[in-house]
Amino acid sequence: MTALDPRALRSAFGSFLTGVTVVTAYGNSGEPIGFTANSFTSVSLEPPMVLVCLAKTSRNYNALTSAAGFAVNILAETQIEVSNRFARPAEDRFATVDWKTGPHGSPIIAGVSAWFDCAMHKTVDAGDHVILIGTVVAFAQTATPGLGYARGAYVTPAMTAEALAQNGNLVASAVIERNGSVLLIDDGNGGMALPETSVGGEGTTAAVQSLIDAAGLTGKPGFIYSIFEDTGRKRQNIAFLCSAAQGTPRQGVFVPLTSAALDDVSDPANLAMLERLGREAATGRFGIYYGNQNSGDVRVIA
Ligand SMILES: Cc1cc2nc3c(=O)[nH]c(=O)nc-3n(C[C@H](O)[C@H](O)[C@H](O)COP(=O)(O)O)c2cc1C
Repeated sequence: MTALDPRALRSAFGSFLTGVTVVTAYGNSGEPIGFTANSFTSVSLEPPMVLVCLAKTSRNYNALTSAAGFAVNILAETQIEVSNRFARPAEDRFATVDWKTGPHGSPIIAGVSAWFDCAMHKTVDAGDHVILIGTVVAFAQTATPGLGYARGAYVTPAMTAEALAQNGNLVASAVIERNGSVLLIDDGNGGMALPETSVGGEGTTAAVQSLIDAAGLTGKPGFIYSIFEDTGRKRQNIAFLCSAAQGTPRQGVFVPLTSAALDDVSDPANLAMLERLGREAATGRFGIYYGNQNSGDVRVIA
């Protein structure tokens, strides 16, 4: 077997979008310890379990592998500095963050998007890493959007959206998907379009919520599905994938996400996005599109 180039492999492993966490515990002398990790994955719902991979070179390898538990702090998109601090050597990584001990006893960092305080279930040896598997004993989630990481860079979609909204040329559209179909409305020129609106001071999520409400559906904005610059119309577009409960829309019709049914979508960029959604809904692997109306890059969400 030919040896794989480790640098290329590291780059390929980092090519998809992940969240960023800080994994914490108490060290052997009772001091808080923690490190930045994007290898976090949920494992099981019943019983609730998560995992994170720890490099065997970690200075805290012994402490973490023998700890009674650990906490996974899902960083908020404003916490890039926290991520950097817990990824670099520092005398006391906790000195500049607010934190407290969680219900199961591991450090919980303030202002995070979510946290899971876990009892150690087991450690599994895996090459140059060890997998820490924890049983979730307590957790909390906030409305703060999480920090993303892809190709060695931080990704902050909601902050980008708010910054664009302040520039006054942001249009948000609602991709309301239900059972393999998407809600389309009349574009006024004999074609079909996604519900869309300009975003003002109310913010992007509220603007998308107003589109769902206007369609007479019960639902909520999910995650950002596409961000692209329309250089022709000199505006930024942001599309949110939204869910909706059963019920007949007051406005528009649900159209199957197949190429033939989508033929009437007049905007080519939205058509390409909906065709991608049809493919991704079939595989269950979704990505976020960044680019302009003609070309861009789809970053897969882990
Ligand atoms: C975004 C990001 C994700 C990381 N993910 C992991 C990871 O999943 N596992 C790991 O062992 N190190 C990971 N690291 C590297 C550690 O945070 C870094 O090596 C840290 O200095 C380890 O500290 P320690 O030796 O005190 O444990 C990541 C770093 C960054 C910036």
